[in-house]
Amino acid sequence: MMLKTERLYLRPMLEEDAQFIVDMRNNTNILNSLFSCKMLTVQEHLNWYKNNLNNDNRIDLMICKKDDNKRIGTVNLANIDYKNQKAEFGIMIAESFWNKGYAYESSQKFIQYSFNQFNLNKIYLEVLKENNAAINLYQKLGFKEIGILKEDIFKNGKFKDVLIMSLFRDDLE
Ligand SMILES: CC(C)(COP(=O)(O)OP(=O)(O)OC[C@H]1O[C@@H](n2cnc3c(N)ncnc32)[C@H](O)[C@@H]1OP(=O)(O)O)[C@@H](O)C(=O)NCCC(=O)NCCS
Repeated sequence: MMLKTERLYLRPMLEEDAQFIVDMRNNTNILNSLFSCKMLTVQEHLNWYKNNLNNDNRIDLMICKKDDNKRIGTVNLANIDYKNQKAEFGIMIAESFWNKGYAYESSQKFIQYSFNQFNLNKIYLEVLKENNAAINLYQKLGFKEIGILKEDIFKNGKFKDVLIMSLFRDDLE
């Protein structure tokens, strides 16, 4: 399985991607944007990876550059709910590759693929209200804010608000 865009390709996550993923995730600016601020070890990541290998309720892809095959991030669909035709979207780009349009380029392709491949009606996500970069990205992709969970995440000594956003198949057509 491989998805291609102008500058990128998306391929399934492999065991050998562990070190890149852990390094990307343990970056302070990335941790600040996530719900949990826990550092991850390679072993913890590998346990998670192996536990999910046969999980057909999620899909995790690596985002790579076509020109040098370097990994730049991950994109995923979780909680794929076949009965209700919905799933939860997530993306992460390593900090050294931010602001180059890579998240938008890869997400657009992945979302289009996901609607078709899993016959979805809705893709939704949750994001910290203070995460402007991600919220702007999601809005640019067509996601609309549908609700707010007040003081939903306790992080760095404070309760943080969380936005729920969603994108319907019909919005894309
Ligand atoms: C959010 C994230 C994926 C954006 O990746 P990126 O490759 O830098 O994003 P792009 O370059 O494709 O930008 C797409 C749009 O996102 C928005 N955006 C990206 N970075 C931004 C920033 N620092 N401030 C404001 N808006 C920003 C803009 O609307 C941008 O469109 P524009 O360039 O036309 O203005 C990246 O910052 C990241 O991985 N952050 C940490 C993980 C994270 O927050 N994931 C989401 C958790 S729910």
